[in-house]
Amino acid sequence: MASKIREQILKVLLENRETYISGQKLSEQLGCTRAAVWKQMEELRQAGYVFEAKARCGYKLIFIPDLVTADELRPLLRTQIFGQQIYSYLSVDSTQNVANDLANRGAPEGTVVLTEFQTAGKGRLGRKWSKDHSKGIAMSLILRPQVPLQKISELTLVIAVALVHAIQKTTGLHPKIKWPNDIFLDGKKLCGVLTELKGESDRLNYILVGIGINVNETIENLGDELSDIATSLLISGKQPVSRAKLVANILFELEQLYPIYLTEGFLPIKKIWEQYSLLNNQEIIARTANGFLEGVYEGITEEGILLLRDKSGMIQKIITGDVYMKEQ
Ligand code: BTN
Repeated sequence: MASKIREQILKVLLENRETYISGQKLSEQLGCTRAAVWKQMEELRQAGYVFEAKARCGYKLIFIPDLVTADELRPLLRTQIFGQQIYSYLSVDSTQNVANDLANRGAPEGTVVLTEFQTAGKGRLGRKWSKDHSKGIAMSLILRPQVPLQKISELTLVIAVALVHAIQKTTGLHPKIKWPNDIFLDGKKLCGVLTELKGESDRLNYILVGIGINVNETIENLGDELSDIATSLLISGKQPVSRAKLVANILFELEQLYPIYLTEGFLPIKKIWEQYSLLNNQEIIARTANGFLEGVYEGITEEGILLLRDKSGMIQKIITGDVYMKEQ
């Protein structure tokens, strides 16, 4: 209830950025006491919002911090499913773990978990993805698609397309996808996706899609080692980006593509994915569970499996693994 009042106060003040709104008017409009309004405004101040208070006139919102909290995100949402339930935290071990607990307790499809700091973040293939500054995005989404388990690799490619669309629309930048779903900009990694499946035998219960994006990190924030191979939207685009807007756009783009995938299958999405592929015509090295494979990228199958033509001219299918461009 308290956060609902907070959200409504923000909405009213955001819609009236040019004028002062009195505490009395806010309490009447929201149907709560003035003490409740005051308490929630204090909480907003603690979170970094700045209000100008003028005697006999009321409050005016003069500074909005760039947070990715539920309060910040809700007014920006244009979705019916994705983000209808948002859980935002200052710090968690991994948003995947939090989302897993929520999904186990029945959280619906489209539930979003966000955090500013992540102490034990998980990356693909057992790697770590921690977040010790509040500049990027760390989020997890709960999906409950009615598709066979073997179809899930396609879904991770669908998510990559939604991410590219959202980044393009938010920033005007043109990222690429490195199979299966790493997002690259200026030849460096911008965003990673971890898809975890939860189910028994061949029955899928739910999927946790973990998305990590470098947004407003500087080269110093990334550190020497990482800044050689990773970039952020700020570094590549030379402009800070509203993380909340970006998250809202990601949820919007997913809500466009996900139903297409569920009803029409992967084929329509595959065509879009291919336009963004970083690996077109590239010589690549694939690291698989059975060792390294070298060759030329030959595209993806209708199931999203990577095709590599090796030195002998044989086409090899890569279902999971990591792919590098040869000159890297
Ligand atoms: C990769 O290895 O490229 C995937 C990285 C995925 C990181 C994100 S951050 C939010 C979510 N929570 C996690 O613990 N991991 C994912």
